[in-house]
Amino acid sequence: MPSQFPHGFVWGAATAAYQTEGAVHADGRTPSIWDTFSHTPGRVRAGDTGDIADDHYHRYDQDVRLMSQLGLGAYRFSVSWPRVQPTGRGPASQAGLDFYRRLVDDLLAHGIQPVLTLYHWDLPQELEDAGGWPERETAHRFADYAQLVAGALGDRVQEWITLNEPWCSAFLGYATGVHAPGRTDAAAALRAAHHLSLAHGLGVQALRATLPRRARVAVALNPNAVRARSASAEDEDARRRIDALANRIFTGPMLHGAYPADLFTDTAAITDWSFVQADDARTIRQPLDWLGINYYTPSVVSAATGDRPPSGPTAYPGAEEVTFHQPPGTRTAMGWTVDPSGLYELLMRFCREVPGLPLAITENGAAYDDKPDDRGAVHDPERIRYLHTHLETLLRALADGADVWGYFVWSLLDNFEWAHGYSKRFGVVYVDYETLERVPKTSARWYREVIRTGQLTV
Ligand code: NOJ
Repeated sequence: MPSQFPHGFVWGAATAAYQTEGAVHADGRTPSIWDTFSHTPGRVRAGDTGDIADDHYHRYDQDVRLMSQLGLGAYRFSVSWPRVQPTGRGPASQAGLDFYRRLVDDLLAHGIQPVLTLYHWDLPQELEDAGGWPERETAHRFADYAQLVAGALGDRVQEWITLNEPWCSAFLGYATGVHAPGRTDAAAALRAAHHLSLAHGLGVQALRATLPRRARVAVALNPNAVRARSASAEDEDARRRIDALANRIFTGPMLHGAYPADLFTDTAAITDWSFVQADDARTIRQPLDWLGINYYTPSVVSAATGDRPPSGPTAYPGAEEVTFHQPPGTRTAMGWTVDPSGLYELLMRFCREVPGLPLAITENGAAYDDKPDDRGAVHDPERIRYLHTHLETLLRALADGADVWGYFVWSLLDNFEWAHGYSKRFGVVYVDYETLERVPKTSARWYREVIRTGQLTV
């Protein structure tokens, strides 16, 4: 197996606005659903909020220098919708857009390619108050927002991502309620999923109409590498159900132009899907320049075992009879099993199902309980092992024909890990939340060597 990554392979790191920026009241920014959610007692661990986060809004130049020291070729960040269009509709905030202009110009000056995500979960609260993603109107608001950002930054940003992990927005936001806006309504979650897909389709149209021809447009999904615990027909059916509700619910309309029929059957008791309009499939399936894949861990499922009855709202409405099992292997601080074989599986699956569509790994990484030693250094050998095995697997997929142009580690910096607050550290750079000092971990040095040599050296 080759040990060398292809010439021109792009090495990056990823972050998102609410997780890193802070400065939530600066320059006319209004609350997003995550501001409201994190300020609601009991929603986020220890009452943590994104109010300050990494203060990246004020320290972006220092962070770009860090990226440059790492040798990054690309930086994936997200634009905060309520920062650039405070009420979720109408005119732009010049000051908000100026922040991203400064950031992008600084990246370009350091030879780092900006990869811009339009929506990484921070819906303006006003739009949630009007109904949020379960409402069709929100998709149209997103398209306007996409056009506004494209008009402001299209001259300097080439890589555009519409949505990040719409599965999480729909199902964690509206079904289990563990993410903002914290609703627990299965039917609303399925409506949200559809309107997120519609937002993607309308958003791609708006981007194409506004951006120069050379721009490339994508979406970042978190496909679930889901396996059946056994070959029994019941367990295989459980796998099929989760595959429909986690994967094909988005890849169906976005990549193939139709929802899978079994999704409608499985969820018939929850909704009749009458909110899907005749032309929606055509709108949602827009030609893409590449597809982003976020990968962390695989899933193992079986038919309900009875020993673990479903408790509370589920992220898979229509699959209440499915039991999830922890895959074997070591776990990260999130409790997620380290198993890169799911990444291989997904890359090869997309190559097979959507031949000709280039892929990028837009997120991959791990949380561990990193702590500075008495000299202030942060050693994270487990993260290095995690990244190493996943990159090895990526090399194997490349050798087997997968068309992958880049890899983005999640994350550049420790940051606000949603409902876990600051308790989970994913960064290759440590952040001291008292002083906001940045300390590159051993993994940052390791990654720099991988980038420099294009090889897995250690
Ligand atoms: C997925 C999300 O896109 C990102 O925001 C999150 O921090 C990581 N995965 C880790 O959970």
